[in-house]
Amino acid sequence: MFQINDNYLKLPGSYLFSTIGKKVREYSESHPDRKIIRLGIGDVTLPLAPAITAALHSAVDEMGRAETFRGYAPDLGYDFLREAIAANDYRARGCDITADEIFVSDGAKCDSGNIQEIFSLDNRIAVCDPVYPVYVDSNVMAGRAGDYDPDSQTWSNVIYMPCTAENDFLPDLPKEAPDLIYLCFPNNPTGAAIRREQLQGWVDYAMKTGAVILYDAAYEAYITEPDVPHSIYECQGAKSCAIELRSFSKNAGFTGLRLGFTVVPKELKCGDVSLHALWARRHGTKYNGAPYIVQRAGEAVYSRAGKAQLQEQIAYYRKNAAYIYSGLKEAGYTVSGGVNSPYVWLKTPKGMTSWEFFDCLLENVNVVGTPGSGFGPGGEGYFRLTAFGSYENTVEAVDRIRTL
Ligand code: MLT
Repeated sequence: MFQINDNYLKLPGSYLFSTIGKKVREYSESHPDRKIIRLGIGDVTLPLAPAITAALHSAVDEMGRAETFRGYAPDLGYDFLREAIAANDYRARGCDITADEIFVSDGAKCDSGNIQEIFSLDNRIAVCDPVYPVYVDSNVMAGRAGDYDPDSQTWSNVIYMPCTAENDFLPDLPKEAPDLIYLCFPNNPTGAAIRREQLQGWVDYAMKTGAVILYDAAYEAYITEPDVPHSIYECQGAKSCAIELRSFSKNAGFTGLRLGFTVVPKELKCGDVSLHALWARRHGTKYNGAPYIVQRAGEAVYSRAGKAQLQEQIAYYRKNAAYIYSGLKEAGYTVSGGVNSPYVWLKTPKGMTSWEFFDCLLENVNVVGTPGSGFGPGGEGYFRLTAFGSYENTVEAVDRIRTL
């Protein structure tokens, strides 16, 4: 008789964004006349930039001709894309990352869920609280998180690093020593950004204690302040203790196309064992590479036209973030984030729980956001709004919330 991986049974409820999707669907079915504005999941709304669609069309044509047709992609990614990433995202910022340290994938969500596979089940993870749920849930599925306590909504074997208004939503170094430290900056969900010298403190800590930092930089394109690092490799020593996860979703609108990458520097070792070699082995075994046409589209992100067009898109979403931030602040809300991030994090009014406020917004003003408690117990009493809607919808949503 077969048995299942019963770690899955330990997972409480469904994935956060599935739960929200279901609630909104039900509401919309019973209120078909209402115009619901969705500022919940961080999904982009602007269409792909012309430089990207042109690259897609041309790659599709190549695939339709015998002499330029391509079959399986190289499992770690095409050189043209890995070179473009190394040059633009790293060397241009003074980071010494080479193309062969870059592993192209179909997105940062998959990589951030999968990366834990190359580490021992005995490792202890540390996460910010609140946190992007994929980091915790993927460790639960693997059997590394221990047992769930429904009262505290925490896992017995996970080290939680509270991110509160008191510490500006930046975690303090943990008291217990973790083996794997998940950091995401600019942060999802709080929108907080870490300064370069603060991140250096984490790199120094990881080097001293022998931990690995799993650094999610999916939102780096939204950084506006010069002392906020775009990559952890801007810090001294990070190549010996950090893996970086990056996405094309938020900077280039690839949420539907799917493309991301992970950097595993060759210097990063556990004794004699190279983590680069382990991840290459994992990638080669379980993955056949992102589609050629999507990787060509990714290459276009770094073209002169692509860069200019995407700067406009990012500016558009930044304007939304600024509108949400100032509109709610003027209305008396306590807000943060939004400056180096497409997410605005607000305190729920009148002592409402995060889900009470979610229901209140959905039912009274037909606006969807994300309840902070869905990101962990530290998010209770908070709420996240995304800047990825259209400008008109963003303005209307904020104006509707102000009527409450
Ligand atoms: C979010 O809303 O937190 C993100 O869109 C989720 C994701 O990127 O997977």
